[in-house]
Amino acid sequence: MIITSLSNSTALAKKLATKLKAKYTATTVKSFPDGDLYLRYNTTVAKQTLIIVESFQPNPNQSILNIIFAAKTAKDLKAKKVILISPYLAFMRQDKRFNSGEAINAPIMGELLSNAGIDLFLTVDPHLHRIHELKEIIKTPAKNLTANKAIADYIAKNYAKEKDNLAIIGPDSESYQWAEEIAKQAGLKNTILSKTRHSSRKVDVKIKKQLDMKGKHIIIIDDIISTGNTMIKAAQKAKKEGASKITAIGVHGLFVESALLKMAKIFDNIHTVNTIEHPTNAIDISSVLVDELKKRKIK
Ligand code: R5P
Repeated sequence: MIITSLSNSTALAKKLATKLKAKYTATTVKSFPDGDLYLRYNTTVAKQTLIIVESFQPNPNQSILNIIFAAKTAKDLKAKKVILISPYLAFMRQDKRFNSGEAINAPIMGELLSNAGIDLFLTVDPHLHRIHELKEIIKTPAKNLTANKAIADYIAKNYAKEKDNLAIIGPDSESYQWAEEIAKQAGLKNTILSKTRHSSRKVDVKIKKQLDMKGKHIIIIDDIISTGNTMIKAAQKAKKEGASKITAIGVHGLFVESALLKMAKIFDNIHTVNTIEHPTNAIDISSVLVDELKKRKIK
């Protein structure tokens, strides 16, 4: 078994290699002078199971191209099996045509991955909203894993002393899959807010089900932190309700357009899972991935 990454997920790929006692090898990905993609495996992949660990962030548009070139090249070089682990899968939020003439990203991305020669695709907490299962868009054998237990364990371990004063908020209706589930596992009260999205950068949130936040440490949990505006609006609401301390936990920390700076003004703590490499990575997903590979007896 050989483990590689293309440029986005080197730390996680190396961690998996250590845990699986497998060889990690860097793959060269760069550009020709004219900008065309140049990709080269620096080891023999023929007859090997090749695991490509690569998130779709940063640079999702370039990342999907790198991934497709890498998978197709591995097949062309006669790899026995090509496994793609993309801990963060992009293009999932544009899952319908919101305005006339728009591209619907999710199924187009799914079709490209389905035709890339990948034998197994693993991802973590993809943004499933109007699309309910990955198999609706990806024809390759695929599984979505979740960071919920890792997050619940992190809260239990790191905020144990404050347990009686903690509560969880999900900032929008889709976030119940993470916030409600993690609250259940951690034995904490929770509420899910309702969000109206006016544009990519403007949202409003409302409280649907009341939760006593006075003097409480509120943990806001969402799958994606992109501009950070959803998290900030939810935090402002919690502050207004009397929360004394606010923590943000995101599965995938994209932090675009100075999101982190803006969030730091209102949040006491900001943590993410290492599905996208970022200084806020505090929660490790590697064991979840390793367990899945071991369960499937991937060698
Ligand atoms: C979308 O519904 C997701 O669950 C997140 O709430 C959203 O992507 C966050 O985006 P932003 O940080 O730009 O508000």
